[in-house]
Amino acid sequence: MSHAKRTVQHLDCRSKRVLMRVDFNVPVASGEVTDDTRIAAAMPTIRYLLQKGARLVLCSHLGRPKAGPEPKSSLRPVHTRLQRLLRQDVRWADDCIGEAAEAASRALADGEVLLLENLRFHPEEEANDAAFAGALARLGDCYVNDAFGAAHRAHASTEGVTHHLSPCVAGFLMQKELDYLGKALDQPQRPFVAILGGSKISGKIDVIMQLLGKVDRLLIGGAMMFTFARAQGLPTGRSLVEDDRVEMAREVLAQAAARGVNLVLPTDCLASTAPDGSAPSRPRRIAELASDEMGVDIGPESVQHFTEQLRGARTVLWNGPMGIFEVEAFAGGTMAIARACAALTGATTVVGGGDSVAAVQQSGLAERFSHLSTGGGASLEFLEGKVLPGVAALDDEVAS
Ligand code: 3PG
Repeated sequence: MSHAKRTVQHLDCRSKRVLMRVDFNVPVASGEVTDDTRIAAAMPTIRYLLQKGARLVLCSHLGRPKAGPEPKSSLRPVHTRLQRLLRQDVRWADDCIGEAAEAASRALADGEVLLLENLRFHPEEEANDAAFAGALARLGDCYVNDAFGAAHRAHASTEGVTHHLSPCVAGFLMQKELDYLGKALDQPQRPFVAILGGSKISGKIDVIMQLLGKVDRLLIGGAMMFTFARAQGLPTGRSLVEDDRVEMAREVLAQAAARGVNLVLPTDCLASTAPDGSAPSRPRRIAELASDEMGVDIGPESVQHFTEQLRGARTVLWNGPMGIFEVEAFAGGTMAIARACAALTGATTVVGGGDSVAAVQQSGLAERFSHLSTGGGASLEFLEGKVLPGVAALDDEVAS
């Protein structure tokens, strides 16, 4: 798939209604947005288009409503936050299609913006219904997609609508995501080190296989290290092991050896008898893990080893935490890896996946990373080498 897409920079948008898909799927509690990272990430494109005199119509999903409109999935709280961030009045439409929304889009003056209510209040959005996509397209004269986080979905607002509007271009956030993730996969500066974590090898196997053909070193932490430990005949105690993936882990180890990739597994872990922090924990060599213990984080020896493996890296790609970082007592390994990445000089450091991004934000070192992806599922599918329908649907860059 070509990652080179036409962008808003090529868009003649003055006095045009620009229908822009954003990923404003943000956490909301008691009617307030509790983390506006995704809204802030779309601001460069929004500001650029408004400065160029566009009449901007923003659309997004929020949550996974299944039976039509529901108050808890309304984009109203996002509307409030967007006005605050933009320091400008933002108009509002109670429905994302229909006469009222269309009239609101036509009433916009140059530099004005309208936010539509949740696209998923219509089941036709996720069904990629052609008539719904057509109705949505009536709100714009051209289309911009800045919703990288939703680009792995072939929905009406990410794919269907592109059959009704032209041009269809990428926003700056979409472009930045494709640039960072695409360059890491296709033209990494070497040494290229990938760090993979998370609980299950089953959810990461395609990423592991894809990366094996590209990286110089692959560091594996998180609970999935215990499926590898089992494959190596090591004790795993009560750690999370995917019994039906042990053979897969063996295959990964064999492939890494065959390709000359340095696959680094933890030699120790933090062991406890409870995963929720209610019992004490202590560092344990994996070979010495007791039958009533479970690994909840990588251990200090592994932290040191991983840190050494990261030294000198020019490209680092990190997906998945090293342990149960949500429990403060078990966050040490993940935070140490965040510090090791942040300390690298001259390296491009890219973090993909909701959990690892949350961990980096928790570490307070987010500014020291080159790029934190706003896509969870989307970044994972991208790293698996899959074609993202929302990206494929955009106009390719034309060579000048
Ligand atoms: C996300 O949060 O990963 C995106 O907004 C996509 O949401 P979805 O998984 O509900 O499609």
